Amino acid sequence: MIGDARAVRGGTLVVARDASDLARRGADVVASVAGKALEDRGRFSIALAGGATPRALYEVLAADAGGTARRIDWSRAHVFWGDERCVPPEHPDSNYRMAREALLDRVPIPAAQVHRMRGEDPDPDRAAALYESELRTALGAAAPEIPRLDLVLLGLGPDAHTASLFPGSAFLSGMAPLVAAPYVEKLAAHRITLTPPVLNAASQVVFLVSGSAKASPLRDVLEGEVRPELRPAQCVRPSPGALLWLVDAEAASRLRA
Ligand code: 6PG
Repeated sequence: MIGDARAVRGGTLVVARDASDLARRGADVVASVAGKALEDRGRFSIALAGGATPRALYEVLAADAGGTARRIDWSRAHVFWGDERCVPPEHPDSNYRMAREALLDRVPIPAAQVHRMRGEDPDPDRAAALYESELRTALGAAAPEIPRLDLVLLGLGPDAHTASLFPGSAFLSGMAPLVAAPYVEKLAAHRITLTPPVLNAASQVVFLVSGSAKASPLRDVLEGEVRPELRPAQCVRPSPGALLWLVDAEAASRLRA
C-alpha cells in the first residue's frame, strides 16, 4: 500500500509512510511538474497551499534548491496562493508568511513573481478582485478565459474544506468568480480563496493530507456520498488536468484497503 498508486474518485491516491515521506514525495511531484512546465513553456506557475501540512514540503524544496534531484529554476517560476487569511503578511496566521519563511526567502525567485493575496486589505472583496486581475495578467488569460495554473497544492480540513472553501460556501459552483472573499461563520472571519473554476482548470492538483485527524474526512471525500456542499474538497475535479491525493498512512487509515 505504501507508495503504490491506485485509482480513487476522479484521480490517483499515493500513500506515504509518514509526514516526512509525504513531504519528500510532494517535493518530488512539485519538481517534476515544474521541470515539465519549464521544458514545455519556459515558465512554471504554482498555487501554494496554506495551513501546517505543506510547510515540511516547502522546507524540502528550499533545502534542495541547490541540489539536482529537485532542482527548480525559480527565476522562471510564478508563485500564487490557493487561499489566504485576512491578516497582514507578517501575521503568524498568514499563509504567505509561512511559505516565505519555509521556502521563498531561500530560493532565487524574483519578488515580482511572488503573487501575494492582500489579506491586510480592509475590503476582502476588493482584495479578491485585485487578485483575480493579477492572476489573469501573470498567466496571460484575459476574461472570459480561465487562467491555467501548472500546479495547485491543496490541504484538507477536518470538515472536508479545502483552500478556504468551507461547507455551505456560496462559492462551490462552477459559476463562481475565480477568486472570492467568503465570510466563514465558524471562523468569524473573511478569507480570500481561489474557487473551483480556477482550481479545476489546473494541469495538476495535489492534495496533501497528513495525520489521523484527517482519516475520516478523507474517507468521506473519497468514498462517501458525493455532497460537495458538505464536502467542498469534492468540488475539486480538474479536467483535463490530473488529481493526485498524496496522503500519509495515518490519514489513509480509514480508507478501503
Ligand atoms: C488554510 C488552508 C486550509 C488548509 C486545511 C488543512 O488556510 O488553512 O488553506 O485549507 O489547507 O485546513 O490545514 P492543515 O494542513 O493545517 O491541517
